Amino acid sequence: MCGIVAAAAQRDVAPLLIAGLKALEYRGYDSAGLAVLEAGQVHRVRAKGKVREMEALYLADPFPGGTGIAHTRWATHGVPNEANAHPHMVGRVTLVHNGIIENYVSLRTELQAKGYVFTSETDTEVMAALVDVNISKGMSLREAVLATVRELEGAYAIAVISRDEPGRVVGARRGAPLLIGVGIGENFLGSDAQALVQVTNKIIYLEEDDVVEISREGARIYTLDGKPVERATHESELSADAVERGEYRHYMQKEIFEQPRAVANTLEARIGAGGVLPNVFGIGGDELLAKVKGVHIIACGTSYHAGMVAKYWIEEYARLPVSVEVASEYRYREAVVPEGTLFIAISQSGETADTLAAMRESRRRGYLGTLAICNVPESSAVREADLKLMTRAGPEIGVASTKAFTTQLAALALLTLHLAKQQGLDSARYNDLCAQLHRLPRAIDEALKLEPQIIELAASFIPRHHALFLGRGAHFPVALEGSLKLKEISYIHAEAYPAGELKHGPLALVDEDMPVVAVAPNGPLLDKLKSNLQEVRARGGELIVFADSAAHIDGGATRGSILRIDAGGDFIAPAVFTVPLQLLAYHVAVLRGTDVDQPRNLAKSVTVE
Ligand code: M6R
Repeated sequence: MCGIVAAAAQRDVAPLLIAGLKALEYRGYDSAGLAVLEAGQVHRVRAKGKVREMEALYLADPFPGGTGIAHTRWATHGVPNEANAHPHMVGRVTLVHNGIIENYVSLRTELQAKGYVFTSETDTEVMAALVDVNISKGMSLREAVLATVRELEGAYAIAVISRDEPGRVVGARRGAPLLIGVGIGENFLGSDAQALVQVTNKIIYLEEDDVVEISREGARIYTLDGKPVERATHESELSADAVERGEYRHYMQKEIFEQPRAVANTLEARIGAGGVLPNVFGIGGDELLAKVKGVHIIACGTSYHAGMVAKYWIEEYARLPVSVEVASEYRYREAVVPEGTLFIAISQSGETADTLAAMRESRRRGYLGTLAICNVPESSAVREADLKLMTRAGPEIGVASTKAFTTQLAALALLTLHLAKQQGLDSARYNDLCAQLHRLPRAIDEALKLEPQIIELAASFIPRHHALFLGRGAHFPVALEGSLKLKEISYIHAEAYPAGELKHGPLALVDEDMPVVAVAPNGPLLDKLKSNLQEVRARGGELIVFADSAAHIDGGATRGSILRIDAGGDFIAPAVFTVPLQLLAYHVAVLRGTDVDQPRNLAKSVTVE
């Protein structure tokens, strides 16, 4: 995680670096810092806490300079404090880093033997010292960085300046993103395009093991063996507006309310009156999908929950076997891959370290091909996959995924329909499912109207310490997603269970202090769910039921509430029922006064293992 931004320009860069860090704060926000090189001197400011804490220190004592590097941190080695905050300075060298250096202990011991004294607990300071050692041997900054990264094991994106080389920043990447922003008479480095949207939309994405040197005049890229290499320049479509919060109190709230538009964007020009259109999955996609005999889905967190919903859909409508697994497990086990299996990676960011590692691992396991379902077009996941389906949610800033999830569901629904038709699903049912998917943006819009009732409900969660979420079938992953949202941003401990499992253990937790949130769509499992709800009622538990308008559910004589939702059909119901659960988590968090968009200990893009 962590965010990096760097600049080589004629103007003073500190304000640009701070603006860039604010855009990158989703990647980590426990401390921040920047360093600017001016007339052979490096001025540095660092602070524990958000970028604004560091900005306040900078504004109290600003410094000029056209070459600089900056960092917002998500701690891996060492607690979040000023000493561990980046940039780290050793000798002539100042450096920022995103990633984890696995062999830093042995490198550190060797450097200590040479007389280096370290002032932080980080793996990063070791890199700065190594670059300094290499410069002492007569190397240029670029040569010194190249020599250093060859010694590193692990993942890194770095930006480095040297007191001896004014106007120059050297960057390198392996296993963590870094890109170049090409300006007019100024150039930049950033962890993503969002960090640079204020200064340029011309972007060059670095590839694995690239090393880059930027100056005001240009950017030169080198491979790990020091050979110059060219990489294509892209026009980023991001606009500064897309990352504005507008009238909303939090990004999360804005992103929840953007869902009807975002889902409509996901579906646009991909599904027509007669069903899913050809060539939706990229060049050669339809031909490859025609050979699919089974599917393995790999993802983390919220994206994993989207994959779980897809399992229910694809198995029911396309009758193809599907397995879903969290990436951090999959990558380290010897999964059996039957012939004709498609590997699907789902990731909002496309930079999640475990998901990328699983994708790379899948290459040697003999899959039919890989499909990335992703929100960031130039991400590593998209670039490495055979087929891609972009979710088109637009930038998601809130750490808790909301529109990323529902757009992933929309994309997975398109895939389900494509596979279902190919596998011979009855045409009346196929047409019904397509009609439901067309209705999804409107159904989500209707579900958003529950907000006033949910605000009232949220008040009852303020003193709670625990909550239980229940669902059945494709709504079990929806319950999991609801509980993840609640724990992530309100810090209330929440668990989700398939409702039928209740009596196998978790029922022991149910008492008058335990709210039980149930997702109750209309359908064949409704009666079963009602019995599970009776089990809760009988033990005095407080029930909060999100029920389909068409479902007959009796409030009963005990405590609790029922909120009615028009799901718009059984197929799309998981996406629609997700919305009130997002709103519930959001309003509980607001009432409890937590940092909704940047909850403690988390980061948006999990680029470390
Ligand atoms: O970018 P990804 O979709 O790969 O991220 C996966 C998870 O880290 C992410 O969904 C995380 O669980 C969210 N914070 C959940 O709200």
